[in-house]
Amino acid sequence: MPRRLIRELAKRIFGEDSIRIVNSMDIIGDIAIIKAEEIEPEKLNLFGEKLLEELKYIKVVLRQTTPVEGEYRLRRFQHIAGEDRRETLYKEHGVKIKVDVERVYFTPRLSTERKRIMQLVKEGEAICNMFAGAGPYSILIAKYRKPQIIHSIDINKYAIDYHLENNYLNKVEDKIVLYRGDAAKMVEKYINGCVDRVLMPLPEKALDYLEYALEASRDEGYLHVYLHIPYAETWKEALTKGKEMVIQKLEGRCDILEAKAHKVREVGPRIMQVCVDTRVKKKK
Ligand SMILES: C[S@@+](CC[C@H](N)C(=O)[O-])C[C@H]1O[C@@H](n2cnc3c(N)ncnc32)[C@H](O)[C@@H]1O
Repeated sequence: MPRRLIRELAKRIFGEDSIRIVNSMDIIGDIAIIKAEEIEPEKLNLFGEKLLEELKYIKVVLRQTTPVEGEYRLRRFQHIAGEDRRETLYKEHGVKIKVDVERVYFTPRLSTERKRIMQLVKEGEAICNMFAGAGPYSILIAKYRKPQIIHSIDINKYAIDYHLENNYLNKVEDKIVLYRGDAAKMVEKYINGCVDRVLMPLPEKALDYLEYALEASRDEGYLHVYLHIPYAETWKEALTKGKEMVIQKLEGRCDILEAKAHKVREVGPRIMQVCVDTRVKKKK
């Protein structure tokens, strides 16, 4: 992402206060999403227009007006410049993801993490993605790792609609089964004890749903548990804390053969997103 360009542009329009006013930008397909203070609309529009001039592949500029919130992890936007739409086609690692950024959670900031998880998968594995969104993890795995099957769950109707369309766009429809509903209920009903690997990319619920991830797993399996962990001094504390939280939650329910916390990204001041990669063996 052309960070320097954004900073220079913001400085030209907003002067020395620019860093305070425009503090970050994501590009999803041809949509640019800026996080900026609520200031005179004319100035924001001017910033949006300049952005469209400089980055020809951007067709829509939006300003994020709420944090990511609610059960579906959604955010709302204000239109700043260009076409007034929310749907776009995003590409990463050779995979196409069509998504409405206001109706379905999506972030390009997990691109490296998605690739990391994909590379851990072995041929023939059965997988459960408990919080699948529009499908970026599941489709990447389906495309490159020859899994036996991927069970993708999401509670948001729009996420499942886009996931279905994305399965066809990427020609992986025969590898992925979709479930719309609560992950705990879907696992209990349909995905009991039959997968080698469970993905839990929802830090707000992962710990509470860990027992269902275990339920989905075969006698031995991998669980990838995402958490947001505050830390005081160094981010390494977040790794230790995350690993301890997962071990504590699983203790007594299974043997923990391996548990390794992986740094994913900073999600706030002294808050780290971590993924605890865990290998478990169920108790008989
Ligand atoms: C942080 S998003 C991750 C989406 C996707 N894995 C990605 O990386 O783009 C979490 C997803 O979990 C879904 N979700 C929230 N609660 C759920 C539940 N109880 N059961 C299943 N899905 C749920 C939300 O709708 C959202 O799409």
